[in-house]
Amino acid sequence: MTDLEEYLLSLVPERPQVMQRMEREASQHNVPIIGPHEGYFLYILAQMIGARRALELGAAIGYSGSWLAAAVQPRGGQVITIERDPVRAHQARANLKEAGYADVVTVMEGEAFDVLGRLEGTFALIFVDILRSFNDAESAPRLLDMLLPHLRVGGLLVADNALHVGSEHSQARTLTEQGIREYNRRITQKSGLAATLLPLRDGVSVALRLA
Ligand SMILES: C[S@@+](CC[C@H](N)C(=O)[O-])C[C@H]1O[C@@H](n2cnc3c(N)ncnc32)[C@H](O)[C@@H]1O
Repeated sequence: MTDLEEYLLSLVPERPQVMQRMEREASQHNVPIIGPHEGYFLYILAQMIGARRALELGAAIGYSGSWLAAAVQPRGGQVITIERDPVRAHQARANLKEAGYADVVTVMEGEAFDVLGRLEGTFALIFVDILRSFNDAESAPRLLDMLLPHLRVGGLLVADNALHVGSEHSQARTLTEQGIREYNRRITQKSGLAATLLPLRDGVSVALRLA
């Protein structure tokens, strides 16, 4: 951890025991969770817009889902989180239950594209945490096309790993990096969206749906 990361972490409010355990276990088992600083950022974003319905892609062990649940619970809100790894989906359910969010979060097990095809309605906040898992350049922009109809006006589309885009000085970019670049290009240029990228960890994009 760099000095700056340590400082940023020191300013995040203390988490409940179960979330601290998730942080430790994720670190021990190399589960790539967003961590306390980005988690708290997500929580603040959800609170800012008074989110009631949130959707997450990539539950892992339920850590970021816990931050979203903490934000929407006071308004009687709900979180749907999607995870294709059955072991992780099971861990996420157990952790979210222990955190007191069993009635707030629904863990849907399956491939994100398949589950999305069955989802109905719109969400105030959509958190995408699977962009780095794509091994081609097409899936990230295709995912965006599938998500936008589910984002309500005034809602936020947030994506982790937004700066996993390779070097500016080399064309030798992986297909994953090319896909994330295309996703970023589309959210920043699309009419009806106001989007920006923040250099938080390896990047977070935030897109507000204006119309
Ligand atoms: C970076 S981790 C998510 C971390 C979690 N959001 C957190 O911060 O606590 C990404 C997760 O997404 C899952 N995943 C990756 N690609 C997926 C896909 N196409 N559909 C569903 N789940 C996917 C992986 O199995 C992994 O558990």
